Amino acid sequence: MNFAVLTGGGDSAGINDFLYFLAHRLEKEGHHLIGFHQGWLGLTTDQAMEINKINSEDFRFTAGTVLGTARKNPLKDGEIDLVLATLAKRNVDALIVAGGDDTLGVAAHLAQEGLKVVGVPQTIDNDLWGTERTLGFATAVTRAVSSVNSMVNSNIAHDRDMIVEVMGRKAGWIALSTAVNTPAAACMCPEGRMDWDEALQAMERYRRLTGKPALAIVGEGIEMEGFDRSQKAVDAFGNVELRGVGHAVGHKYEELTGRKPRLQILGYILRGGTPVVADVELAATFANHAVDLVLSGRSGEMVSLLGNEPNSIPLKEVLGKTRKVGLDYLENQLKLLA
Ligand code: F6P
Repeated sequence: MNFAVLTGGGDSAGINDFLYFLAHRLEKEGHHLIGFHQGWLGLTTDQAMEINKINSEDFRFTAGTVLGTARKNPLKDGEIDLVLATLAKRNVDALIVAGGDDTLGVAAHLAQEGLKVVGVPQTIDNDLWGTERTLGFATAVTRAVSSVNSMVNSNIAHDRDMIVEVMGRKAGWIALSTAVNTPAAACMCPEGRMDWDEALQAMERYRRLTGKPALAIVGEGIEMEGFDRSQKAVDAFGNVELRGVGHAVGHKYEELTGRKPRLQILGYILRGGTPVVADVELAATFANHAVDLVLSGRSGEMVSLLGNEPNSIPLKEVLGKTRKVGLDYLENQLKLLA
């Protein structure tokens, strides 16, 4: 069979390993694989490369995506016919699409048009419905934790409190995991369980009890009085740029305590580095399961991880929903912060 793959939206560590495993398995079983460049853009411009075990081996254990990515929405741009024409011209029998909600939305549309399409949950945000894990989350958290922990001693040396902002558009998975794995006294997530007043109290309490500067982790998706996103840039899928809310948290902190906190926005650093073991294994699991689905005639589904086992869910059940941090779980984890 002729397989094709694309990687769309924000990249995350583990994609290149996923491409390697996909190529390796398909080659072993006598299939052919091409990869379209820059997400859906490569399907509108017919830009693709062959991926095989040998040429993908060099990219194993590296971050980014060797295929490139873009926030291109061919549905919005009225270019689905170009996508279909490219797939027909290249005799693609099955398309594997790795990305988040936006990228997978286009995949679901193609599946409805009768194409054989399988989705792969890939975003550092870990917020896709129907799967316990998304590709790249484990590495992103590991990077966030090591970045934060490497600043703690400097904060202590200078007696400076610190606000760290991490990515996570709609869900606080990265923020919460980072907070639990660092000496953070406060954590504000888009789910909203720890509001500003609670965060401030937690930081003050920590200072009082330990005599050390306090640390707070802030998810970029929180709402904060005084932080207006109405003029921010919007991408092809209508997502407003979120970065920067940590500044508003920092200003408010200074206003109320008289102490200017250090502010660190970790941003894109979470997408880099060597993928951690959990992401490489997830890449292998997702690659195998995506191939299994296609070979057994399935389409319009996303591979997933449930109970630590490979599973799948219809794409149309995934779209438009967000897997947020459960409020009971969030509340309990917050009780354990420093
Ligand atoms: O969707 C994943 C994500 O990492 C979000 O956490 C973040 O808001 C966004 O990507 C940033 O994307 P961009 O690469 O377009 O700046």
